Amino acid sequence: MSAAPKPEILAAFEAAKGFMPLGEGLALYAAAAEAAALGLPLLEVGTYCGRSTILLADAARQAGVSALTVDHHRGSEEQQPGWDYHDPETVDPVVGRMDTLPTFRRTLHAAGLEDHVIALVGRSPQVAAVWGGPLGLVFIDGGHTDEHATADYEGWAPHLAEGGLLLIHDVFPVKIDEWTGQAPYRVYLRALESGAFTEVSATESLRVLRRTGTGI
Ligand SMILES: C[S@@+](CC[C@H](N)C(=O)[O-])C[C@H]1O[C@@H](n2cnc3c(N)ncnc32)[C@H](O)[C@@H]1O
Repeated sequence: MSAAPKPEILAAFEAAKGFMPLGEGLALYAAAAEAAALGLPLLEVGTYCGRSTILLADAARQAGVSALTVDHHRGSEEQQPGWDYHDPETVDPVVGRMDTLPTFRRTLHAAGLEDHVIALVGRSPQVAAVWGGPLGLVFIDGGHTDEHATADYEGWAPHLAEGGLLLIHDVFPVKIDEWTGQAPYRVYLRALESGAFTEVSATESLRVLRRTGTGI
C-alpha cells in the first residue's frame, strides 16, 4: 500500500498557498516515501510558498533523510504582475518584486517542518552546478519555459542515484490553453527517450519515472 500523509500534514498542505492539487499531492507523497527508503536527500525545484514542500518534507522526516528545495523566490514568468497566475500578496512592497520566501517560511512553520527542510535560494542551474551528492528523488516544478525546464532536467537528473525517482509536474501531452506550456511534457519525453528512465506512474499532470540506467 502507498504511504499517505497524516491528517495534520494534509491540513497544512491544503491551507498552504500554491498550485498542487490534492490528488497529485498524494502521488508526490507516496513517491517521496518510496524514494526516501534509499537513504538519500529528496530535492524539489520550485518551492513557491511551500505547498508541495510540506509533503516532500514530511516523507523525508519519516525516513530520516533531508528535503531540499530550490527557488529564487522571484516567481516564474506566468506568476508576474499582469499574468494569470499572479498573486499580489506575493509582492514585496519595498523591493517591488515578487518574494515568496517569507510565505514559504510561514508555511513550514505552521506545518512544524522547519527543521526538516533545507531551502536553497538561487537559480536552479547555478545551484545544480555546485551540487555534488547523489539524490533519491528530483521533483521538477520550476520554470515552465523550455529554457528553464530543460536546465532543471540537465542540471539535476544526473544527480539521481540508480533506483531514484524523477518527478515532473505539469506534463500536458495536449496543449490546454495559452498559459499552459508543454515544456515539462517535452522534458518527460526526453527523459524516457534517453533510456535512463522507466515510467512508474501518472497522476493527473504528475509523472513519476525511475532511474534505471545511464546516459541522461
Ligand atoms: C509552479 S511554481 C512551484 C509550485 C510549488 N511546487 C507548489 O506546489 O505550489 C514554480 C516556482 O519555480 C520558481 N522558479 C522558476 N524558475 C526558476 C529557476 N530558474 N530557478 C529557481 N527557481 C525558479 C519560481 O520562482 C516559482 O516559485
